[in-house]
Amino acid sequence: MLKLFYIAGLILLDAAIFSGTEIESMPCDFFDTVNVTGSQRLVNGSYLYHDLLIPSELTAAYNYTVLPDGTREPVETHLRGCVCKLRTCLRFCCHHSQLMANGQCSGSVDLTRLNPYVNVTLQNGTVFRGHFQKEFIPQSDLPKPCNEMYSLNDREETDQYTVFENGSLSRSYDNVTMSKRDYCLQPEHLKEGETTSLRIVAHNCAIKSGDKTGQTIVLICSLVCLFSTITVYRCLKKLRNLHGNCFVCCLICLFMGYLFLLLDLWELTNNFCATAGYTGYYFVMSTFLWLSVISWDLRSSLGISQGASYQSKYLFLLYSIYAWGMAFIFTAVIYLVDHLVEDNAENEPWMPGVTFYSCWIKTHDWSAMLYLYGPMLIVIIFNATMFILTAIEIIAVKRQLQVVADRQERKQKHNSDKQTYGLFLRLFIIMGVNWSLEIVSYLVQSHEFWKRVLRIADYVNWSLGIIIFFLFVTKLSVLKLFKKRYQSRNIRSVVSLKSQGSRNTTAAKKLRRDTSSSQASTQI
Ligand SMILES: *[C@@H]1O[C@H](CO)[C@@H](O)[C@H](O)[C@H]1NC(C)=O
Ligand SMILES: *[C@@H]1O[C@H](CO)[C@@H](O)[C@H](O)[C@H]1NC(C)=O
Ligand SMILES: *[C@@H]1O[C@H](CO)[C@@H](O)[C@H](O)[C@H]1NC(C)=O
Ligand SMILES: *[C@@H]1O[C@H](CO)[C@@H](O)[C@H](O)[C@H]1NC(C)=O
Ligand SMILES: *[C@@H]1O[C@H](CO)[C@@H](O)[C@H](O)[C@H]1NC(C)=O
Ligand SMILES: *[C@@H]1O[C@H](CO)[C@@H](O)[C@H](O)[C@H]1NC(C)=O
Ligand SMILES: *[C@@H]1O[C@H](CO)[C@@H](O)[C@H](O)[C@H]1NC(C)=O
Repeated sequence: MLKLFYIAGLILLDAAIFSGTEIESMPCDFFDTVNVTGSQRLVNGSYLYHDLLIPSELTAAYNYTVLPDGTREPVETHLRGCVCKLRTCLRFCCHHSQLMANGQCSGSVDLTRLNPYVNVTLQNGTVFRGHFQKEFIPQSDLPKPCNEMYSLNDREETDQYTVFENGSLSRSYDNVTMSKRDYCLQPEHLKEGETTSLRIVAHNCAIKSGDKTGQTIVLICSLVCLFSTITVYRCLKKLRNLHGNCFVCCLICLFMGYLFLLLDLWELTNNFCATAGYTGYYFVMSTFLWLSVISWDLRSSLGISQGASYQSKYLFLLYSIYAWGMAFIFTAVIYLVDHLVEDNAENEPWMPGVTFYSCWIKTHDWSAMLYLYGPMLIVIIFNATMFILTAIEIIAVKRQLQVVADRQERKQKHNSDKQTYGLFLRLFIIMGVNWSLEIVSYLVQSHEFWKRVLRIADYVNWSLGIIIFFLFVTKLSVLKLFKKRYQSRNIRSVVSLKSQGSRNTTAAKKLRRDTSSSQASTQI
């Protein structure tokens, strides 16, 4: 009983402390407040926060914090005061005694070395240079805008920014004005020529590429087209040969790559960020490895009928081990480098950095050349070499055939080779040129003009699925195959009755398979 009274007393006491402060009616925006719990309370109800007197009407009890996306997160009830109505605030990322390094708060600031001055532009346009603690109020308990932040070094031409008196920040790079939800200030060690200086600079989140809707639409169309192409190549028996199977594997990898790109775009991978990053990388690498398999196989199968199915099965197994296995080795390497190498400023440029800035491998420094664009470039060069060699051979065979004009069968085979070659050549030119542009856009990413020009390449890249669909499925020969398939479905009942009798020797079967597969090589 005594205990009950005691608890009731506590509740009353709590209520008294927060008396006159309704949780419902907030005196100002959450991002204009600081936690004033523990400040001295004067007899007339005002609070003394450092040297600032806050009248009680500008304080309120909060049982939540507001996250940058506007959602509320419950925390223990605490008192907050609208200090920014009384004096200009500076929005810090974390406590001002902490450092910002690699986008994370850590360590502690050597206050004797810190340059404590911050430039703030007043409403009338004049720039006021003030001590961050004496002339401003640092707000240091607001939630961070995003997990991975990067700093704007205002001593550099491209990283200029302006902090306004009302708390907004304008970034000169793209003239974007950000509210206190989207940026924060924090001391950071910055290189200045030979020496480093310790200054308070602004930090903001990575810029998401602008046109999300356009990219989403193109990617979804690509995914649908890829799915249709894969289905067609699996359904039509005549396309289920070695070329076709390798092609389907390549398309599956491309499909998965696009899928992860789409999920990453809509930030749906945040719960399994690392898994998504490594899986996405795996599929991008295997797409390229399968491309190299196709160009190799195209050349080595030239002039040879793809008859013996045991051989093509064996080859397919070999190719699979190569493509899936090599991609696995690449992924294992970047995983190990990420996990075994210590993450500091010196090592970072050489780390793949999955999850550092996004759920994807870093693409803004030299590590991308090593782990992503370098291998891509090698495959593109390999493919180009294979295609030139194949072209030379095709021309040579054509000359031979002109001499021995009567060998009808070889001529037919040669024509089919040429067709297949032409088709894949178009594919490789599209893919090769496109991915080369991607590499170029990586190399010129600091040049604003070229970056904008090469955004077109991005769109072509995302629409590869659509291009492949039109190139490979809406072809006359494939459509004919479809027609045949549906016709044969209708008369299948009759055929199956008839074929009961003729299903005799294995030799006959083998013959049938041989002819069908050599026909098939003309189809793909
Ligand atoms: C507010 O400040 C008090 C005293 O410094 C601290 O105990 C409390 O955890 C803070 N509350 C929040 C939500 O930051
Ligand atoms: C509260 O008291 C302080 C000092 O005693 C005084 O400076 C302040 O103006 C008072 N505030 C109000 C709202 O009366
Ligand atoms: C915060 O306070 C409001 C109003 O008193 C109440 O409705 C809400 O449930 C509280 N939230 C938490 C998490 O305590
Ligand atoms: C503030 O601006 C002045 C001149 O406008 C400049 O010299 C100074 O370096 C700036 N201070 C900081 C901390 O950026
Ligand atoms: C702008 O306002 C500040 C204080 O409000 C004042 O000190 C300064 O002289 C003003 N500047 C101009 C150009 O009016
Ligand atoms: C703050 O002031 C700047 C410049 O005067 C203005 O562009 C911006 O919209 C203002 N922000 C808010 C939230 O009022
Ligand atoms: C930003 O605005 C300034 C002045 O309004 C203008 O000179 C500059 O070209 C703009 N920059 C961009 C990237 O739009």
